[in-house]
Amino acid sequence: MAKIVAGVGCSHIPSIGAAADKGMEQDPYYKPLFDGYAPAREWIKKVAPDVVILIYNDHASAFSVELINTFVLGVGDRYKPHDEGYGPRQVPDAIGHADLSAHILESLILDEFDMALANEMTVDHGLTVPLTVMFDKPDAWPCKIIPLCVNVIKYPQPTGNRCFNLGKALRKAVESYPEDLRVAVFGTGGMGHQLQGERAGLLNQEFDQHFLDHLKDAPEELTKLSHVDYMRDAGSEGIELIMWLMMRGALKAPSEAYRFYHVPMSNTAAGLVCYEETE
Ligand code: DHB
Ligand code: FE
Repeated sequence: MAKIVAGVGCSHIPSIGAAADKGMEQDPYYKPLFDGYAPAREWIKKVAPDVVILIYNDHASAFSVELINTFVLGVGDRYKPHDEGYGPRQVPDAIGHADLSAHILESLILDEFDMALANEMTVDHGLTVPLTVMFDKPDAWPCKIIPLCVNVIKYPQPTGNRCFNLGKALRKAVESYPEDLRVAVFGTGGMGHQLQGERAGLLNQEFDQHFLDHLKDAPEELTKLSHVDYMRDAGSEGIELIMWLMMRGALKAPSEAYRFYHVPMSNTAAGLVCYEETE
């Protein structure tokens, strides 16, 4: 049977992808960040997932603001990087696992999570940057990738609690798939940041550290955070962290293999956690 073996929480700041693409890892601004990513890259090699379910948000790239779905599951064979204004990133296409996607889609919908499905879509920095963070620059990504998009850009977003519960249903879906597959779940975005308005540039390290401290052992406490809590304490884009809660919902008894926090990176606090499933 398929099994969830690991979870990753990872910021998806676009400039990290741009820095990697331009070979700027040793640049004084980026070096501490990429040095901090090195142990995670070693760890994921040992985890060696066959499939990554990559929870991210589309930033009005594949889906314009004319059509916003709360949850979208990719059910295709291949997803190309989106052109976000400076040409598509020269990273490998994400190769899907259409059969596992179809199974997950059915299981989630029968569990009453109303997923939209995407047979075809491009993928933006929300998906490609965490792959770069974890896998560096291979000719092809070392695993299949199933994209799961969450609306965090347009109110009303789903609650953190809804995302946590969807993560639990995701686990049930994976565990009922008959093929032996090692599956990792990535939750991306965050940590605290605000890109717009009067409070643009807002960071709150205390909030971020509290989130990192509680995600493993007390995620239920974090599921109580409301939209206003995120907005006030973590900035308008801090709500991306509900996608980390979805990842956490897919794990039963994680142990923390690695944690890294670096601030600031672009306008954002860059966080990374690597969990191993112990059950
Ligand atoms: C930045 C962070 C994001 O999560 C994002 O989607 C876009 C930009 C930033 O810090 O620059
Ligand atoms: Fe983002």
